[in-house]
Amino acid sequence: MQLLIFGPPGAGKGTQAVRIAQAMEIPHVSTGDLFRANMRDGTELGKKAQEYVTGGELVPNEIVIAMALDRIGQADCQKGFLLDGFPRDVEQAEQLEKWLLERGKNITAVLSVELDDETIIQRIISRRVCRSCGATYNVSAQPPKVENVCDQCGGPVVQRPDDQREVIENRLSVYKKQTAPVEEFYRKRGVLKTISGDGDMDSVFGRIQEVLSDFERS
Ligand code: AP5
Ligand code: MG
Repeated sequence: MQLLIFGPPGAGKGTQAVRIAQAMEIPHVSTGDLFRANMRDGTELGKKAQEYVTGGELVPNEIVIAMALDRIGQADCQKGFLLDGFPRDVEQAEQLEKWLLERGKNITAVLSVELDDETIIQRIISRRVCRSCGATYNVSAQPPKVENVCDQCGGPVVQRPDDQREVIENRLSVYKKQTAPVEEFYRKRGVLKTISGDGDMDSVFGRIQEVLSDFERS
């Protein structure tokens, strides 16, 4: 299965992607996580992406498309993958489609997670992430067991630099202008499934499992 999880910043894509990837036994490929790991490690790619990521702008397509396609071309993605945060504009969607077609594949399903702006802002402001392994927390909904210490690896739990209110507002506006049209791209191809991102993490995951079980049956 080649799956996409799609939706505005803070809708819960990363949170649900971890669960889906585990349940379906496919890798979770998040372009945002790849950029953050490269920025943390000070690589050339990280240096090129830094100003865009911290300002909430899209990283230019000549950088992101090559990085994403290279990642899904690796051996562990042969049996399927779950993309999170890519594609994020129509050009990325077209390039992904072309790349998959050349390999006799296509996107099986796009899970589009919907959430209102006010809830998004509240969730992002209270988000924390592990600087070492990228695990996601939330000071109100899902705090680490020990304050500022990752449950999984013991690394430092911090706020993302793009999780400040002004940057969040810019990310929402970039989403509406550049990313929202990707939903129509996949609706036309008959693979789009919308899911409410409201409610607790287990309820959202229950809705996603229902959708995926329909695909597995068909
Ligand atoms: P990226 O990392 O993809 O960020 P994003 O799309 O803005 O999405 P987020 O990661 O902020 O939100 P999420 O939906 O994953 O929510 P989460 O599960 O964490 O991209 C970052 C940047 O990288 C971009 O701005 C851009 O610069 C660059 N980039 C990446 N991909 C690119 C591309 N393709 N092209 C160009 N540039 C690209 O949840 C949020 C919070 O809510 C967490 O604290 C979580 O614990 C909590 N939460 C989740 N679900 C629930 C729930 N049900 N109830 C209560 N709390 C919840
Ligand atoms: Mg995310």
